[in-house]
Amino acid sequence: MRHNRIVLLGFSGAGKSTVARKIASHCNFSVLDTDKMLEERYKISVYDIFEKYGENVFRQLEYKILVKALQQDNVVIATGGGAPCFFDSMKLINEVAFSIYIEMAPKSLALRLLHAKVTRPLTKHKTEEELVAFVTEQMEERKHIYKQAHLTVKGENFDLQDVLQNLIIQNSVKL
Ligand code: S3P
Repeated sequence: MRHNRIVLLGFSGAGKSTVARKIASHCNFSVLDTDKMLEERYKISVYDIFEKYGENVFRQLEYKILVKALQQDNVVIATGGGAPCFFDSMKLINEVAFSIYIEMAPKSLALRLLHAKVTRPLTKHKTEEELVAFVTEQMEERKHIYKQAHLTVKGENFDLQDVLQNLIIQNSVKL
């Protein structure tokens, strides 16, 4: 089976968007970002959806957007950190795409989130210690989902060539 959809998974701050752009430029694929698609489609920021309507509404809209993204061809899709963890999203992703989990230690993620320019609703107003505790706890809940990805790579020392070789072997990318 030839995968012409690659889906990047991982916690906020793991570098999904950056990796998506790098892979896409090598494969000549387009980049899709589920958070951006959602913001464009509903004309409201992710932050404001959480604030005004709560997480449940966000998860429902996020799921719809993910389904739409997974109908596109020749794409690298950067998902929101929670996207694969709700409804049947992970199963769906693995059925129609090649999934890559960017794994990173909670401490590294917490530091990156602490210095991030974008304010994320789930991590706002948290000190470094609170962030480490929060990320560690969330990771415990989410990692059994993330680990279902077809490929797991380390975010701290991400090796693009290694990933591209894997994609060639998996038949996602032509030589
Ligand atoms: C979330 C991650 C965010 C965004 C939303 C919820 C999560 O995306 O979808 O704030 O539940 O982990 P990023 O992973 O791009 O930060």
